[in-house]
Parts: sequence; C-alpha cells; structure tokens
Amino acid sequence: MTPDPIETRPIETRLPVETRLPIETRLIDGRAHAARLTGEIRDEVARLSERHGVIPGLAVVQVGSNPASEVYVRNKIAHTGDVGMRSFAHVLPGSTRQSELLALVAALNADPAVHGILVQLPLPTGIDASAVTAAIDPAKDVDGLGPMNGGRVTRGPHGLVPCTPRGCLLRLRAELGTLKGLHAVVVGKSNLVGRPMAQLLLQEECTVTVCHAATPDVGALACLADILVVATGHKGLVRRDWIKPGATVIDVGITRITTPEGRSRLVGDVVHEEALGRAGRLTPVPGGVGPMTIACLLRNTLTAAERSLDG
Ligand code: GUN
Repeated sequence: MTPDPIETRPIETRLPVETRLPIETRLIDGRAHAARLTGEIRDEVARLSERHGVIPGLAVVQVGSNPASEVYVRNKIAHTGDVGMRSFAHVLPGSTRQSELLALVAALNADPAVHGILVQLPLPTGIDASAVTAAIDPAKDVDGLGPMNGGRVTRGPHGLVPCTPRGCLLRLRAELGTLKGLHAVVVGKSNLVGRPMAQLLLQEECTVTVCHAATPDVGALACLADILVVATGHKGLVRRDWIKPGATVIDVGITRITTPEGRSRLVGDVVHEEALGRAGRLTPVPGGVGPMTIACLLRNTLTAAERSLDG
C-alpha cells in the first residue's frame, strides 16, 4: 500500500469551503463576567464577617518600582477594598535582600489577619522568585505559585488555583460549555499561566499541546487549535494565519506601547485586527482576561479565609 502523500497545501486551502467564509468574531467580555463573580464574593465576604467575625485579608508585596507592577498592585488593592476585604500593602525598595523578603513572608505567614499573600513578580535580579513563592504558606498562597499548589493543580484535589488560568477556564466554560475533546494549544509555559493552564485544560479532557520558545514553527501547531491560549508577552506574535477559522482565542499577553500618534495603549500577543473575522471568539486587550484574574484572586483570598475557620 502506498502511504498518503505528505500534506503540503497551505492550511487555508485545506479547509472546507464553509469555514473560508467571513466569520463574525464574538468578543469575549471578561468585565461583565468578573463583575458578576465580584458581586457574589462581596456578598460572601459580608456573610463571613457577620457570622464569624472574619474579614478576609490580602497582603500584597512589591519589591522595587517596576511601573507595570505598580499599576497591577494598585489595582489589586483597590479591588480588595471594593468587596469589603482588608489589604496590607508592603512596598520594599529595589535594594531589598532575599533574606529580608523571606523574613517578611514568614511574618505574614504567622499573621492571623492575613489570609492571602501575593508577592508581585517579577522580583529584582538577585532574588530567587521560586524560593520566595515556595516560602509562602500553601494555605495563603492565593497566586497558586508555590510547589504545593502547583503540584495540586496537576494532580488534584485542587488547592488554590493560579488566578489567570482559572479565570480563562471559567470564561471558556461560559463560552463553549463542555471543552471535552477539543484541541487546545497553549503558547507559553510559565508557572503563572502556561503550565497551570495546560493542566486545567487537560482536566477538562481537551487534547493539549504546549508550545514555548524552543518549539519550532509554533504557528503550524497554533493553527490546529480549537482553543488557542497565548501567554508570552510578545506583542503581535499571533497573526491571522496562526488562527484556525472559528477558533476561540484567549489573549493573555499585555504590553504597553506608544502609537505613532504618541498615545499610550495596551496590546496583547495577538494582532487583534487580524484575528477579527478569523477567530470565532476573541478576548480583547484590555478587558478580556485581566478582570477575570482579579476576580479569581479575590475568590482565592475568600477561600483561604473560609478554610482558616477549619483550623
Ligand atoms: N506579575 C504579573 N502577573 C502576576 C500575578 O498574577 N501574580 C504575581 N504574583 N505576579 C504577577
């Protein structure tokens, strides 16, 4: 028997004619979903406080003055206040030594008013981020970045699940219903997003492909995806021909640029204009994934506070 010839036609011409027709891309609104979740969390925080006298507390630690981190940290603190939680901000100078940061983490681990601890990344060079995240009490690791929660996300039962992948999964389920049997391609293998995202999609019974900086021809794999999650921080990485027509595209990237007109704006890893008319569903940047991340951080902090009642 002669083997099938190797397929060399461009993907566009291999598709059934109906999928080559123009597609109306539906923008995935993370803000509305996040607002619903945040409303539920606010009610639960009020109940916890009334019944048990416990107000969930989130400690946010920032080291140095990375401008993006400053915005993220301010935002997280503002949202904790909005749902009736307490926040404890610790801004340390860029010259902070690892031992000093570890001492702060140990103090926060021991503080009963603090239910969640988040050390904003990236940390200055000279500080080993994995040593710091590993030092956070797993019961307070609301980022889900430590080895215990990182392991649990792969094996279950879930501990505290990393916020961005959890937010993406909630949105995907809301958009698509069951994800079973779909081919998901995750671009990026960070501990914060790519790895846990791949694990969560595997638990949904997706077929999961993970691409990263050493993957040859990422586009050739990306264009096979029913669900494409991109988390690389490389603006404009994903062009039109990386997207299977009708696919659901989750753009986790966020980069600040200055436009030729001199205006500052945020863009994702996907060339948004090229994805329109090609993707079936697409998260905008900003307003897609970001609000869901914050809602999931609040949810994890509430969960940590509730579990603290069990001793
Ligand atoms: N830096 C960028 N995003 C995050 C996040 O979700 N958590 C932490 N700790 N650092 C970040």
